[in-house]
Amino acid sequence: MTIAIPDLIFGLFDQSGSESYGEHTTQLQHALQVAGLARHHGCTPALVVASLLHDVGQFLDDAGNAAESRGIDARHELSGAQFLERWFSEEVTGPVRLHVAAKRYLCAIEPAYLQGLSRASALSLKLQGGPMTPAQARQFELEPFYTDAVTLRRFDDMGKQPGLAMPPLDSYRALLEAQLRARVGYFFSFSPTRR
Ligand SMILES: [Fe+2]
Repeated sequence: MTIAIPDLIFGLFDQSGSESYGEHTTQLQHALQVAGLARHHGCTPALVVASLLHDVGQFLDDAGNAAESRGIDARHELSGAQFLERWFSEEVTGPVRLHVAAKRYLCAIEPAYLQGLSRASALSLKLQGGPMTPAQARQFELEPFYTDAVTLRRFDDMGKQPGLAMPPLDSYRALLEAQLRARVGYFFSFSPTRR
């Protein structure tokens, strides 16, 4: 089948966006808040799209979500980046792939950041490997998109406000289309199976 990629992606939000993100927000509310922060702060279009889609890996792998609830890190940042790289450039997928590592990085270099983590984030930090060691932090700074990932991470932490009204998902359609056109075009054959 052929489907417009924005419709495919928005369909994932239709399926799973009402699921709880934790901390009194849904996945959709969280994604809109994180993207809204990126847009408000004048980030590049690629980083706004990355912000909107950074947790898409949580929509793709039901087993992963179940695993997380059993206390295993499902590595949603990797499955999400892998899913998106079929259509989007590294400017989008890089920050998505690194947004969990960015949390471990910030915990290593900013004691106040570590102390300010929400309860859920502090719990998941343990599963994700805890704060980086100094050597891991230096290595992380060599990643091409690490500064974008850190920026995304800060928005990720802020985007958990219950009931905050945000522009709807469809307000990002043109932005998504522009990022897709830069890479592969608007339509793409897709087999609609969940991974
Ligand atoms: Fe997030």
